[in-house]
Amino acid sequence: MSVVKINVLTVPEPMKAELERRFAGRAGLVEQADGFEGFELLRPVEGTDRYLVYTRWRSEEDFQRWTESRAFGEGHAQAAADAERGQGHGHGHGHGHGGPAASGSELWSFEVVERADPKG
Ligand code: HEM
Repeated sequence: MSVVKINVLTVPEPMKAELERRFAGRAGLVEQADGFEGFELLRPVEGTDRYLVYTRWRSEEDFQRWTESRAFGEGHAQAAADAERGQGHGHGHGHGHGGPAASGSELWSFEVVERADPKG
């Protein structure tokens, strides 16, 4: 049974465009991970102001293997470098540059119980 892993990102208003820009320029390595079934970056419209990074995997083990892989590290290289620099220690251009785009993150895990896809 597939599992859904959602990384829930708290993103300050001035960093939203930057977050989306980073995802637009993402490494694209996750597509090659074993057991990867799909990914969506979801922008909040109503009911929450947090972005969801939705991913679906063939199994818990496939997801765990990906998080421990080099591909995960490379896919988060930008985010990691920013986190290391720390918030407020960017290049001195104010919002939208240095510092992580997200001010917080939380991982949600689900097992897929039922599923339907449109008929071809
Ligand atoms: C420490 C918490 C995390 C933060 C702050 C974070 C943030 C980000 C950011 C900003 C990017 C865009 C690329 C970049 O800037 O390097 C990215 C890529 C991505 N993140 Fe995360 N992430 C985290 C952990 C996770 C986890 C646990 C998942 C699993 C659901 C995940 C799923 C993804 C995926 C699928 C991509 C695209 C990578 C690719 O194309 O290969 N992230 N993340």
